[in-house]
Amino acid sequence: MPIRDTFADIKTATLAHLDEHGCGCYPYSSGSLLAVLAATARAGTVVELGTALGYSAAWFASTGAHVHTIDRDPTHTGQARHHLAKHRLTGRVTFHTGEGLDILSTLATGGADVAFFDGYAPTAAAVDALGATLRPGGLLIAANMTLGGDAGAIHGRLADWWHADLGETLLAVKPH
Ligand SMILES: C[S@@+](CC[C@H](N)C(=O)[O-])C[C@H]1O[C@@H](n2cnc3c(N)ncnc32)[C@H](O)[C@@H]1O
Repeated sequence: MPIRDTFADIKTATLAHLDEHGCGCYPYSSGSLLAVLAATARAGTVVELGTALGYSAAWFASTGAHVHTIDRDPTHTGQARHHLAKHRLTGRVTFHTGEGLDILSTLATGGADVAFFDGYAPTAAAVDALGATLRPGGLLIAANMTLGGDAGAIHGRLADWWHADLGETLLAVKPH
């Protein structure tokens, strides 16, 4: 039996926005996978780069975690606020509008349980900055690894992390 997507309305709205604006706000392929990973990590805090219209943030927040989500496009952040409010999840999400590296440099280091990269093609600098927010044993989830970017350099940087290459997505656990 197919799993029901609790936040299918946000995914649909994101795809419609993408069609209209061509702005590259592709929703993550499996929100439920993100929720399973956050729940397994018993995440209290999640840091996300790439809010778009709030699809992945909603899934993370649904596990009870508090989500710090970052996007440089204020239209996306505004629409994400609307969607999270509709699902009564606003209290579990802090929206940051601005350039990813700038915002990440203002967030606490070493305390997050999960960090999620879902900007466009991954950059080593973004993965480093997200990794810095994680506690030892925290989980890094990097999407879009097949889009190019710094994928090779990122694999090198995470060589001493437990990691699993799922193709489009890379999972890595920060060493203690
Ligand atoms: C692939 S979409 C994110 C999809 C979202 N996680 C979801 O599941 O619906 C990428 C988003 O990242 C944002 N973005 C890309 N690069 C960024 C950067 N360097 N700083 C801040 N936001 C960025 C874009 O504006 C876009 O909204």
